[in-house]
Amino acid sequence: MTPEPDRYAVIGNPIAHSRSPEIHQLFADQTGESIRYEKILAERDGFKDAVARFFDAGGRGLNVTLPFKGDAFEWADQRTELAEHAGAVNTLIAQDDGTCLGANTDGIGLLRDLKKSLRLSIQDTRILILGAGGATRGILEPLLQEKPALLLVANRTTERAEALAKHFQAHGQIRGCGLDAIEPGPYDLIVHATSAALQDQGLGLPDTLIGPQTRCYDLLYRDTDTPFMHWAKAQGASQVTDGFGMLLEQAAESFYMWRGKRPDTAMARNYLRPGTLP
Ligand code: ATR
Repeated sequence: MTPEPDRYAVIGNPIAHSRSPEIHQLFADQTGESIRYEKILAERDGFKDAVARFFDAGGRGLNVTLPFKGDAFEWADQRTELAEHAGAVNTLIAQDDGTCLGANTDGIGLLRDLKKSLRLSIQDTRILILGAGGATRGILEPLLQEKPALLLVANRTTERAEALAKHFQAHGQIRGCGLDAIEPGPYDLIVHATSAALQDQGLGLPDTLIGPQTRCYDLLYRDTDTPFMHWAKAQGASQVTDGFGMLLEQAAESFYMWRGKRPDTAMARNYLRPGTLP
Protein backbone atom coordinates (compact mmCIF):
# COMPACT_ATOMS: atom_id res chain seq x y z
CA MET A 1 0.00 0.00 0.00
CA THR A 2 1.31 3.50 -0.84
CA PRO A 3 1.83 5.54 2.35
CA GLU A 4 -0.25 8.70 2.85
CA PRO A 5 1.62 11.81 1.68
CA ASP A 6 3.05 14.01 4.47
CA ARG A 7 0.77 16.95 5.26
CA TYR A 8 1.75 20.63 5.11
CA ALA A 9 -0.29 23.86 5.02
CA VAL A 10 -0.20 27.63 5.04
CA ILE A 11 -2.13 29.34 7.83
CA GLY A 12 -3.25 32.98 7.84
CA ASN A 13 -6.19 35.41 7.76
CA PRO A 14 -7.06 36.17 5.00
CA ILE A 15 -5.75 33.10 3.16
CA ALA A 16 -8.03 32.55 0.14
CA HIS A 17 -5.62 34.14 -2.36
CA SER A 18 -2.44 32.45 -1.11
CA ARG A 19 -0.41 30.84 -3.87
CA SER A 20 1.64 28.71 -1.47
CA PRO A 21 -0.28 25.45 -2.19
CA GLU A 22 0.45 25.51 -5.93
CA ILE A 23 4.06 26.56 -5.30
CA HIS A 24 4.76 23.73 -2.86
CA GLN A 25 2.97 21.19 -5.04
CA LEU A 26 5.18 22.28 -7.92
CA PHE A 27 8.30 21.96 -5.73
CA ALA A 28 7.16 18.48 -4.71
CA ASP A 29 6.71 17.47 -8.35
CA GLN A 30 10.16 18.86 -9.22
CA THR A 31 11.92 17.00 -6.42
CA GLY A 32 9.88 13.77 -6.49
CA GLU A 33 8.57 14.28 -2.94
CA SER A 34 5.10 13.10 -1.95
CA ILE A 35 3.28 15.81 0.02
CA ARG A 36 -0.22 17.22 0.48
CA TYR A 37 -0.42 21.00 1.03
CA GLU A 38 -3.55 22.87 2.14
CA LYS A 39 -4.70 26.33 3.22
CA ILE A 40 -5.95 26.94 6.77
CA LEU A 41 -8.01 30.03 7.60
CA ALA A 42 -7.69 30.71 11.34
CA GLU A 43 -9.77 33.16 13.34
CA ARG A 44 -7.76 36.09 14.69
CA ASP A 45 -7.85 34.52 18.18
CA GLY A 46 -7.86 30.93 16.92
CA PHE A 47 -4.24 30.42 15.84
CA LYS A 48 -3.18 28.11 18.70
CA ASP A 49 -6.21 25.82 18.38
CA ALA A 50 -5.85 25.53 14.62
CA VAL A 51 -2.11 24.75 14.83
CA ALA A 52 -2.60 22.21 17.63
CA ARG A 53 -5.29 20.43 15.59
CA PHE A 54 -3.04 20.34 12.53
CA PHE A 55 -0.02 18.86 14.31
CA ASP A 56 -2.12 16.48 16.48
CA ALA A 57 -3.53 15.05 13.25
CA GLY A 58 0.01 14.28 12.04
CA GLY A 59 0.84 17.47 10.07
CA ARG A 60 4.60 17.85 9.38
CA GLY A 61 4.96 21.58 8.79
CA LEU A 62 3.26 24.96 8.40
CA ASN A 63 3.94 28.19 6.60
CA VAL A 64 2.65 31.10 8.64
CA THR A 65 1.50 34.38 7.12
CA LEU A 66 -0.26 37.58 8.23
CA PRO A 67 -1.18 38.22 10.99
CA PHE A 68 0.24 35.21 12.85
CA LYS A 69 4.05 35.39 12.62
CA GLY A 70 4.30 36.59 16.22
CA ASP A 71 1.89 33.89 17.42
CA ALA A 72 3.97 31.27 15.60
CA PHE A 73 7.06 32.58 17.40
CA GLU A 74 5.28 32.00 20.72
CA TRP A 75 4.05 28.58 19.66
CA ALA A 76 7.43 27.12 18.64
CA ASP A 77 9.27 25.00 21.25
CA GLN A 78 12.68 25.98 19.80
CA ARG A 79 13.63 28.61 17.22
CA THR A 80 16.45 29.15 14.77
CA GLU A 81 18.79 32.05 15.57
CA LEU A 82 17.32 34.25 12.81
CA ALA A 83 13.77 33.64 14.07
CA GLU A 84 14.88 34.26 17.65
CA HIS A 85 16.36 37.67 16.76
CA ALA A 86 13.42 38.55 14.50
CA GLY A 87 10.75 37.66 17.07
CA ALA A 88 8.76 36.31 14.12
CA VAL A 89 8.32 32.82 12.65
CA ASN A 90 7.04 32.00 9.15
CA THR A 91 7.86 28.27 9.10
CA LEU A 92 6.99 25.59 11.65
CA ILE A 93 8.67 22.21 11.41
CA ALA A 94 7.48 19.12 13.33
CA GLN A 95 10.47 17.38 14.95
CA ASP A 96 10.79 13.62 15.46
CA ASP A 97 10.67 14.04 19.26
CA GLY A 98 7.21 15.67 19.02
CA THR A 99 8.41 19.26 19.49
CA CYS A 100 8.06 22.06 16.96
CA LEU A 101 10.91 24.16 15.51
CA GLY A 102 10.21 27.76 14.38
CA ALA A 103 12.21 29.33 11.56
CA ASN A 104 12.07 32.53 9.56
CA THR A 105 12.88 32.22 5.86
CA ASP A 106 11.53 35.66 4.83
CA GLY A 107 14.86 37.49 4.93
CA ILE A 108 16.73 34.78 3.03
CA GLY A 109 13.89 34.77 0.49
CA LEU A 110 14.04 38.55 0.02
CA LEU A 111 17.83 38.60 -0.37
CA ARG A 112 17.83 35.80 -2.93
CA ASP A 113 15.14 37.55 -4.95
CA LEU A 114 16.81 40.97 -4.75
CA LYS A 115 19.88 39.37 -6.29
CA LYS A 116 17.93 37.47 -8.95
CA SER A 117 15.11 39.85 -9.91
CA LEU A 118 16.75 43.22 -9.32
CA ARG A 119 20.40 42.16 -9.69
CA LEU A 120 21.01 44.21 -6.57
CA SER A 121 23.93 43.85 -4.22
CA ILE A 122 23.19 45.43 -0.84
CA GLN A 123 26.70 46.36 0.30
CA ASP A 124 27.14 50.15 0.80
CA THR A 125 23.61 50.97 -0.39
CA ARG A 126 21.06 53.22 1.34
CA ILE A 127 17.89 51.30 2.08
CA LEU A 128 14.52 52.59 3.25
CA ILE A 129 12.01 50.15 4.73
CA LEU A 130 8.41 51.28 5.11
CA GLY A 131 6.69 49.57 8.05
CA ALA A 132 7.87 48.08 11.33
CA GLY A 133 5.60 45.04 11.80
CA GLY A 134 6.25 41.31 11.63
CA ALA A 135 7.23 41.39 7.95
CA THR A 136 9.98 43.93 8.65
CA ARG A 137 11.32 42.06 11.69
CA GLY A 138 11.94 39.00 9.52
CA ILE A 139 14.08 40.77 6.92
CA LEU A 140 16.24 43.16 8.99
CA GLU A 141 19.03 40.85 10.14
CA PRO A 142 19.69 39.19 6.75
CA LEU A 143 19.72 42.66 5.13
CA LEU A 144 22.12 44.05 7.75
CA GLN A 145 24.44 41.06 7.26
CA GLU A 146 25.01 42.36 3.70
CA LYS A 147 26.42 45.61 5.14
CA PRO A 148 24.31 48.43 3.70
CA ALA A 149 25.60 51.99 4.34
CA LEU A 150 22.24 52.76 6.01
CA LEU A 151 19.02 50.92 6.75
CA LEU A 152 16.28 53.37 7.69
CA VAL A 153 13.02 51.94 9.04
CA ALA A 154 10.11 54.39 8.74
CA ASN A 155 6.78 53.64 10.38
CA ARG A 156 3.43 55.34 10.99
CA THR A 157 4.01 54.78 14.72
CA THR A 158 7.49 56.26 15.21
CA GLU A 159 8.20 54.45 18.49
CA ARG A 160 7.87 51.03 16.84
CA ALA A 161 10.47 51.95 14.20
CA GLU A 162 12.81 53.33 16.85
CA ALA A 163 12.38 50.23 19.01
CA LEU A 164 13.18 47.94 16.06
CA ALA A 165 16.27 49.96 15.18
CA LYS A 166 17.45 49.70 18.78
CA HIS A 167 16.77 45.96 18.84
CA PHE A 168 18.93 45.37 15.75
CA GLN A 169 21.60 48.04 16.32
CA ALA A 170 24.31 45.47 17.12
CA HIS A 171 23.88 44.04 13.61
CA GLY A 172 24.72 47.15 11.56
CA GLN A 173 23.84 50.71 10.51
CA ILE A 174 20.13 50.97 11.30
CA ARG A 175 17.90 53.90 12.32
CA GLY A 176 14.17 54.34 12.91
CA CYS A 177 11.84 57.30 12.25
CA GLY A 178 8.21 58.24 11.55
CA LEU A 179 6.72 58.10 8.03
CA ASP A 180 6.41 61.89 8.28
CA ALA A 181 10.11 62.38 9.14
CA ILE A 182 11.98 60.37 6.49
CA GLU A 183 15.24 62.02 5.54
CA PRO A 184 15.33 62.93 1.83
CA GLY A 185 16.66 60.39 -0.68
CA PRO A 186 17.23 59.24 -3.21
CA TYR A 187 17.55 55.76 -1.74
CA ASP A 188 19.07 52.84 -3.62
CA LEU A 189 16.29 50.52 -2.49
CA ILE A 190 12.86 51.13 -0.96
CA VAL A 191 11.05 48.12 0.51
CA HIS A 192 7.35 48.37 1.26
CA ALA A 193 6.46 46.22 4.29
CA THR A 194 3.28 47.75 5.74
CA SER A 195 -0.13 46.12 5.61
CA ALA A 196 -1.68 49.39 4.36
CA ALA A 197 -2.06 48.17 0.77
CA LEU A 198 -4.17 45.29 1.98
CA GLN A 199 -6.76 47.98 2.62
CA ASP A 200 -5.82 49.87 -0.58
CA GLN A 201 -4.56 52.92 1.26
CA GLY A 202 -1.59 54.98 0.15
CA LEU A 203 1.06 56.06 2.65
CA GLY A 204 1.23 59.76 1.74
CA LEU A 205 4.99 59.59 1.13
CA PRO A 206 7.04 62.65 0.10
CA ASP A 207 8.32 62.83 -3.48
CA THR A 208 11.98 63.22 -2.39
CA LEU A 209 12.68 59.53 -1.88
CA ILE A 210 13.09 58.23 -5.41
CA GLY A 211 15.74 59.04 -8.02
CA PRO A 212 16.45 57.47 -11.41
CA GLN A 213 18.59 54.73 -9.78
CA THR A 214 16.08 53.79 -7.06
CA ARG A 215 14.73 50.25 -7.03
CA CYS A 216 11.43 49.58 -5.29
CA TYR A 217 10.25 46.28 -3.87
CA ASP A 218 6.80 45.51 -2.43
CA LEU A 219 6.74 42.51 -0.10
CA LEU A 220 3.11 41.98 -1.13
CA TYR A 221 2.24 40.19 -4.35
CA ARG A 222 -0.78 40.49 -6.57
CA ASP A 223 -1.74 39.87 -10.17
CA THR A 224 -1.84 43.63 -10.74
CA ASP A 225 0.37 46.46 -9.46
CA THR A 226 -0.02 47.31 -5.77
CA PRO A 227 -0.65 50.96 -4.70
CA PHE A 228 3.02 51.17 -3.64
CA MET A 229 4.13 49.94 -7.09
CA HIS A 230 1.88 52.54 -8.78
CA TRP A 231 3.41 55.26 -6.64
CA ALA A 232 6.99 54.06 -7.27
CA LYS A 233 6.48 53.95 -11.04
CA ALA A 234 4.88 57.40 -11.07
CA GLN A 235 7.92 58.73 -9.16
CA GLY A 236 10.28 57.35 -11.83
CA ALA A 237 11.92 54.42 -9.99
CA SER A 238 14.33 52.46 -12.17
CA GLN A 239 12.88 49.04 -11.28
CA VAL A 240 9.68 48.17 -9.46
CA THR A 241 8.65 44.68 -8.44
CA ASP A 242 6.22 42.89 -6.17
CA GLY A 243 7.05 40.14 -3.70
CA PHE A 244 6.24 37.13 -5.86
CA GLY A 245 9.93 36.24 -6.26
CA MET A 246 10.43 36.50 -2.50
CA LEU A 247 7.38 34.31 -1.96
CA LEU A 248 8.96 31.64 -4.16
CA GLU A 249 12.37 31.91 -2.52
CA GLN A 250 11.11 31.83 1.08
CA ALA A 251 8.88 28.89 0.13
CA ALA A 252 11.87 27.06 -1.37
CA GLU A 253 13.83 27.57 1.85
CA SER A 254 10.89 26.26 3.92
CA PHE A 255 10.59 23.27 1.57
CA TYR A 256 14.31 22.58 2.03
CA MET A 257 13.93 22.67 5.84
CA TRP A 258 11.03 20.21 5.63
CA ARG A 259 12.23 17.83 2.94
CA GLY A 260 16.01 18.33 2.64
CA LYS A 261 15.72 19.02 -1.10
CA ARG A 262 16.20 22.30 -2.97
CA PRO A 263 13.55 23.16 -5.56
CA ASP A 264 14.42 25.04 -8.77
CA THR A 265 12.82 28.46 -8.20
CA ALA A 266 13.70 29.87 -11.64
CA MET A 267 11.86 27.00 -13.29
CA ALA A 268 8.93 27.45 -10.89
CA ARG A 269 8.79 31.15 -11.70
CA ASN A 270 8.81 30.56 -15.43
CA TYR A 271 5.94 28.16 -14.99
CA LEU A 272 3.84 30.26 -12.59
CA ARG A 273 4.61 33.69 -14.07
CA PRO A 274 6.07 33.15 -17.53
CA GLY A 275 8.50 35.73 -18.89
CA THR A 276 8.99 37.80 -15.72
CA LEU A 277 12.55 36.87 -14.76
CA PRO A 278 15.07 39.29 -16.27
P1 ATR B 1 2.53 42.24 11.21
O1 ATR B 1 3.28 42.30 12.48
O2 ATR B 1 1.73 40.99 11.07
O3 ATR B 1 3.35 42.60 10.02
P2 ATR B 1 1.49 44.61 12.11
O4 ATR B 1 2.34 44.44 13.30
O5 ATR B 1 0.08 45.03 12.27
O6 ATR B 1 1.42 43.33 11.28
O7 ATR B 1 2.29 45.61 11.16
C1 ATR B 1 1.74 46.15 10.05
C2 ATR B 1 2.58 47.33 9.60
O8 ATR B 1 1.83 48.09 8.66
C3 ATR B 1 2.95 48.29 10.70
O9 ATR B 1 4.18 48.87 10.37
C4 ATR B 1 1.82 49.32 10.62
O10 ATR B 1 2.13 50.59 11.16
P3 ATR B 1 1.88 50.87 12.73
O11 ATR B 1 3.00 50.21 13.46
O12 ATR B 1 1.91 52.35 12.85
O13 ATR B 1 0.55 50.27 13.05
C5 ATR B 1 1.67 49.43 9.13
N1 ATR B 1 0.38 49.94 8.70
C6 ATR B 1 -0.80 49.30 8.71
N2 ATR B 1 -1.78 50.08 8.18
C7 ATR B 1 -1.18 51.26 7.84
C8 ATR B 1 -1.64 52.48 7.24
N3 ATR B 1 -2.92 52.64 6.89
N4 ATR B 1 -0.73 53.46 7.01
C9 ATR B 1 0.57 53.29 7.36
N5 ATR B 1 1.07 52.16 7.93
C10 ATR B 1 0.20 51.16 8.16
